Formats: sequence, C-alpha cells, structure tokens
Amino acid sequence: MRHRTILLITTLVVLTLTTIAFSEKYPNLAPKKIELKRGYTEEALKCIDCHAKVTPGIVEDWKNSRMAHAGVSCYDCHVVPKNSPMASQCEGVKKTMPGIYTSPMVSPKTCERCHPTEVEQFSKSAHAKLAGSPVIENPKYQKLMYELEGGIFAGMPKSDKRSLALRQTGCQMCHGMKVELDKNNKPTNSSWPAGVGTRYPDGGKGNCTVCHNRHSFKISEARKPEACAKCHMGPDHPTIEIYYESSHGKLYLTEGDEWKWDSAPDAWEPGDYRAPTCATCHMSGIGELSTTHNVNERLKWDMAHVKSVVRTGERGDGEKGRKLMKKVCSNCHSGVFIDNYFNKFDSAIGLYNFYVEKAQTMLEDLKKRGLLKKDKWKDPFQELYYFLWHHAGRRARQGAAMDGPDYAQWHGFFQIMLIYKDLEDIYNWRIKNGKIEPLSPVMSTGAY
Ligand code: HEC
Ligand code: HEC
Ligand code: HEC
Ligand code: HEC
Ligand code: HEC
Ligand code: HEC
Ligand code: HEC
Ligand code: HEC
Repeated sequence: MRHRTILLITTLVVLTLTTIAFSEKYPNLAPKKIELKRGYTEEALKCIDCHAKVTPGIVEDWKNSRMAHAGVSCYDCHVVPKNSPMASQCEGVKKTMPGIYTSPMVSPKTCERCHPTEVEQFSKSAHAKLAGSPVIENPKYQKLMYELEGGIFAGMPKSDKRSLALRQTGCQMCHGMKVELDKNNKPTNSSWPAGVGTRYPDGGKGNCTVCHNRHSFKISEARKPEACAKCHMGPDHPTIEIYYESSHGKLYLTEGDEWKWDSAPDAWEPGDYRAPTCATCHMSGIGELSTTHNVNERLKWDMAHVKSVVRTGERGDGEKGRKLMKKVCSNCHSGVFIDNYFNKFDSAIGLYNFYVEKAQTMLEDLKKRGLLKKDKWKDPFQELYYFLWHHAGRRARQGAAMDGPDYAQWHGFFQIMLIYKDLEDIYNWRIKNGKIEPLSPVMSTGAY
C-alpha cells in the first residue's frame, strides 16, 4: 500500500531528527525501543519550552501523541513561510525568533505534506467539499442565518454584531466557515475556529481536528462514535441517538470500554471490537476494505434533501456505495441477513418518497393558485412541509438505515403521517375557500 510506505519513510526521516536532548528533557516522551539519534532543532525546542509554561495543556496533550513520539512538533505544523497568506507571529516568536513566522491556523495543506492519501480522500468527501457551502456562499442560507435567525427581520440592525451570533455559535461550528484575517493576519470576526468544511487562507479545505482533536490526534478517539456526535445529532439528523438505540450501540455502551481502539490503521478488525461504530461502517478498513477518509464512498441514498435519490456526481456513486457498505456487514452477518436488511431500508426510502411526492404536488398546486404566503415561516402549510422532510423525514430514513426502530417509527413515520394529515386539511381548506386561512395553527418548535 502506497500510503503506508510513504508514512514509513516519513516516520524514519522524522525519527532521525529526534534528539537525545529531547529525551533528557522529556523522559516520559522517549519513544519505546527507538534509538534517538539527532535532535529537534533549537527553534523547535524553544517553542516547546516556552509553551510548556504559557499553554501547558497543549504541550501535555501533544507530548502523549504518536506524532510527538515520531518527532513531529509545534514547529512542523505551526511555522509557515513569511509569504504565506496566514503568516503572523506569536508573542514569543516576535521577541525571541524574529525571523520565524507562525500561524494559529493549521489547514489540511500542512497535514498533506505527510499524509497525502488521507487528505486526497478527505477532499473528495462532502465533509471538505460541500459542508462549508451553505454557510459560506449559498444565498438561501445567508438569508436564513442573518435576516431570519439573526433577528434582522425583527429590527436588529444589519451592522449589529449580534446578527452574526447565530452563524458563529451554530451553523459555523458544524459546517465550517471561510476564515477571515485582520491586518496582522490573525483570524478575525469570529470566523475561526470553525467546523468540518472550514476554508483556510492558504487554500486548504476542511478541518481534520473535528474528528482528531488537537493536540493528541488519537486514532482511537476518531474511531469512537462520540467523534461524530457533536454534529450528527439533534432533531433533524439524530444519528448518534439512533446509534445508541441500535443493537450495535447497545454493545458499544455495554462493553466498549474493553474493546481495543488503538490498532494500527487498516488493522482494526472484528475481534478488537464486537460491533461496528460510525467509523467502522463509514470509514475504517475492515476485511477486504481499506480505510477511507471519503465518507461518501459507502453510501447509496442522499437522504439529506427533500427527495431521496441515488447518489451521483459530487455526492458519490450510489450503486457502488451499496456494494461497499454490504462488504462491511459481511464481516459479521450472513448474506441473507444483509439482503433482508437493505430490502427493508430501501422500502422505507420508498415510503418516505411516496409521502413527500404527494406533499410536493399539493405545494405546487397551491403555489400555482397563489395560495401560499410569501413568507414561508408564517405559512403553516410551508412550515409543516419543512418539518415533514427536514425533521421527521430525515429521522425516519436514518432510523431505517441504521437500526433505530424508534426513530424509524415514533419520531419518524408516525410524525410524517400526522404532519401529512394536517397538510391535507390546510390544502383542502384553501382550495375550497380560495384563500389562505388567517392565523397559523403550527406548533412553534416543530414536531418531534
Ligand atoms: C500535527 C500538527 C500539530 C502539531 C504538532 C501542533 N499543532 Fe497546534 N494546532 C494544530 C491544529 C490542526 C490546530 C487547529 C487549527 C485550526 O483550527 O485551524 C492547532 C491549534 C493550536 C493553537 C490555537 C488553538 C488554541 O487552542 O488556542 C495553539 C496555541 C497551538 N496549536 C499550539 C501548539 C503548540 C504549542 C504545539 C507544540 C507543543 C502544537 N500546537 C503542535 C496542529 C498542530
Ligand atoms: C518565549 C515564549 C514563546 C516562544 C519561544 C514561542 N511562543 Fe508561541 N506563544 C507564546 C505566547 C505568550 C502566546 C500567546 C498565548 C496567549 O494568547 O495566551 C503564544 C501563542 C502562540 C500561538 C497561538 C496563536 C498566536 O499567534 O497567538 C501559536 C500557534 C504559537 N504560539 C506557536 C508557536 C511556535 C510554532 C513556536 C516556535 C516556533 C512558538 N510559538 C514559540 C509564547 C511563545
Ligand atoms: C511532518 C510530518 C507530519 C505532519 C505535518 C502531520 N503528521 Fe500526522 N503523523 C506523522 C507521522 C510520522 C505519524 C505516525 C506516527 C506513528 O505511527 O507512530 C502520524 C500519525 C498521525 C495520526 C495517527 C495517530 C495515531 O494515534 O495513530 C493522525 C490521526 C495524524 N497523524 C493526523 C495529522 C493531522 C490531522 C495533521 C495536520 C493537522 C498531521 N497529522 C500532520 C507525521 C505528520
Ligand atoms: C449540530 C451541527 C449542525 C448545525 C448547528 C447545523 N448543521 Fe446543517 N447539517 C449538519 C449535518 C450533520 C448535516 C448532514 C445531514 C445528514 O446527512 O445527516 C447537515 C446538513 C445540512 C444541509 C444539507 C446538506 C447540503 O449540503 O445541502 C444544509 C443546507 C445545512 N445543513 C445548512 C445549515 C445551516 C444554514 C445551519 C445554520 C442555520 C446549519 N445547517 C446548522 C450539522 C449541522
Ligand atoms: C470524519 C472524521 C475524520 C476526519 C474529518 C478526519 N479523520 Fe483521519 N481518521 C478518522 C478515523 C475514523 C480514522 C481511523 C480509521 C481506522 O479505523 O483505521 C482516521 C485515521 C487517520 C490517520 C491514520 C492513518 C489512516 O489513514 O488510517 C491519519 C494519518 C489521519 N486520519 C489523518 C487525517 C487528516 C490529515 C485529516 C484531514 C485532512 C483527517 N484525518 C480528517 C476520522 C477522521
Ligand atoms: C464538525 C461537524 C462534523 C463532525 C464531527 C462529523 N461530521 Fe459528518 N457531516 C457534517 C456535515 C455538516 C455534513 C453535511 C455535508 C453536506 O452534505 O453538506 C456531514 C456529512 C456526513 C456524511 C454524509 C455525506 C453527504 O454527502 O452528506 C457522512 C456519512 C458523515 N458525515 C459521517 C461522519 C462520521 C462517520 C463522522 C465521525 C467519524 C462525522 N461525520 C463527523 C459534519 C460533521
Ligand atoms: C452498521 C453500520 C453503520 C453504523 C454503525 C453507522 N452507520 Fe451511518 N449509515 C449506514 C448505512 C447503511 C447508511 C445508508 C447508506 C445508504 O444510503 O444506502 C448510513 C447513512 C448515514 C448518513 C447519510 C445520511 C444522508 O443524509 O444521506 C450519515 C450522515 C451517517 N450514516 C452517519 C453516521 C454516524 C454519525 C454514525 C454514528 C453515530 C453512523 N452513521 C453509524 C450504516 C452505519
Ligand atoms: C463487527 C461486527 C459487525 C458488523 C461489521 C456489523 N454488525 Fe450488525 N450486529 C453485530 C452484532 C454482534 C449484533 C448483535 C447480534 C444480536 O442481536 O445478538 C448485530 C446486530 C445487528 C442488527 C440487529 C439484529 C437483531 O436481531 O435485532 C442489525 C439490524 C444489524 N446488526 C445490521 C447490520 C448492518 C446492516 C451492518 C452493515 C452495514 C452490520 N450490522 C455490520 C455485529 C456486526
């Protein structure tokens, strides 16, 4: 495997740079059974030394990481050329090493120097490619974030910083943001830090630390379902909740503490664990499959949007995705079990599409007849329609996909049925009376 060879060579190169001086200073850091030949450069040691005082938490985290054991330090990730668009100087560097430039931002471009395969796969995934776009450029969501949820519609002045607060504390922290810089090249305007689809001034796309939290960057942490839970949760995509409800999640919660989490990449196999986590199904090497950082690779359906369609183009290759996902299951389940499972799931997608297509037909008919309000958030039909696909519909589909029966049914299809019946009533009333009813009967927080 090419990337393993590259990793090995990198490891050897970096190891030769590791020093005796270093192991004397940090005895508990001396890599096991590895002869230390040469040192961190003087500059690299200065960063570590001073930062052990100014940011001891960061140095402690890093000290215990595999990368520290391999001689990768602050210097390798945070020092940038003077002409980098992100070049600035930290307080300490300014005083003690004026020729050196640093950046608090570390984009995938930096990781790519040593992990080209992971970065290439990751950059093809929706995590790097699509996740940032609603927050950064899609006009539809700009309106939602600032004018609506940011309070401008209710009189909040556009120039008031508070109108940005929803984006900064919500959407941005999951989806990512385009990092903006001040005149000293430090990140500004609360555009940093940000979530998985962050865009960096050096052209790097995506944020590796959402799963590999700094500065320990543990592989074991990324393999646990909690690595995904900050974002894949809540009323509109309750994936972690579904996982905890599933048979797999039950085993994880019951005995996960005893499983082996730190096996080498591609060598983490059944036996180390009894049931799969999010990473096992969507990313890890298992059986004949290799690890992938492209989470779209093993998916068939796009369930995030109004109508479920088989993935194509930048969303992935759905037919191929299904084959790969089945290969994951086949490590622990039989062919008949797996086929039955996916038949039921595809059928649930079909049932959901049936409801949503009928609702769409009503919506289009009302639109044609001028029986929709311009402001869809004041129009019960449109508000309910939103809850139908975005909340209940995603819950039903994800529950069916990942063995969460309560989400497939009570939080899912049951709610879809209720919402659909209300949609029908409103539709019939408007058609019969030729006008829009005066007041909104919709629950303000939405169906759950
Ligand atoms: C493997 C690369 C890597 C190494 C090694 C590394 N960092 Fe970082 N560091 C990062 C990444 C990634 C971030 C998050 C950047 C982002 O969100 O854009 C970060 C963020 C930071 C931040 C800003 C965030 C905060 O919490 O204030 C500081 C300060 C920092 N690192 C200091 C250090 C120090 C000191 C060392 C050495 C002991 C170090 N880093 C080693 C990758 C690294
Ligand atoms: C003499 C002490 C000292 C040295 C040497 C030093 N730093 Fe810093 N560094 C600081 C202080 C102080 C801060 C500010 C911490 C704060 O804001 O609380 C800082 C902040 C940072 C930050 C956060 C972003 C920023 O620009 O404020 C990064 C990243 C960083 N240093 C990296 C490095 C790297 C890489 C080196 C080695 C090339 C280094 N530092 C050397 C003292 C030092
Ligand atoms: C200068 C080279 C270098 C850079 C830059 C670098 N890494 Fe690494 N990284 C390594 C080496 C070498 C290893 C293997 C250590 C080992 O196997 O013991 C490693 C291992 C890892 C691992 C596996 C850790 C584990 O617990 O097994 C992760 C995750 C990782 N790096 C993430 C990152 C991320 C994210 C970045 C960018 C923010 C980054 N690396 C930047 C050299 C680098
Ligand atoms: C808790 C984290 C989180 C927050 C906060 C969040 N999202 Fe999302 N969003 C997600 C996740 C995860 C998905 C993927 C849903 C799925 O496929 O299960 C998603 C999906 C989407 C999609 C559909 C995917 C696409 O590319 O078309 C859009 C659009 C979107 N979010 C916009 C927003 C906007 C705008 C905000 C703020 C008003 C926001 N999100 C807040 C996590 C979040
Ligand atoms: C969505 C979560 C997620 C993101 C984002 C992510 N990783 Fe990973 N990463 C993982 C998981 C899970 C594994 C463990 C795979 C396994 O079981 O072998 C892993 C493993 C690794 C490894 C160990 C070698 C390997 O390929 O298995 C490296 C190196 C690594 N990641 C680097 C990166 C870099 C660099 C980025 C950013 C470009 C990144 N990761 C972004 C989840 C993530
Ligand atoms: C910081 C937030 C965040 C974390 C952490 C995160 N994701 Fe995501 N994920 C997102 C967002 C946002 C999207 C929606 C991307 C889009 O389609 O625009 C997404 C989409 C996905 C998709 C569907 C791809 C698509 O086309 O919509 C999968 C599968 C996925 N994530 C799996 C994972 C797994 C597995 C983990 C943990 C190992 C994880 N994610 C961690 C935010 C996150
Ligand atoms: C047993 C394997 C398995 C586990 C464990 C698992 N998933 Fe999934 N996941 C699937 C399958 C199967 C699908 C549907 C694939 C398809 O479209 O055919 C899916 C779909 C998804 C999607 C796509 C949703 C969309 O909008 O299209 C996301 C996001 C996702 N999973 C995230 C996660 C997260 C986060 C976890 C952990 C909390 C997780 N998964 C755990 C198998 C799994
Ligand atoms: C690492 C092994 C492993 C993998 C991989 C795995 N599973 Fe499982 N799965 C289990 C175990 C163990 C159970 C618990 C069996 C029991 O209920 O006694 C289970 C239970 C289930 C159940 C509940 C069965 C029941 O009788 O209630 C479903 C459904 C399921 N798995 C589907 C899948 C699907 C679909 C995939 C692939 C996307 C998959 N599993 C991948 C180990 C695995």
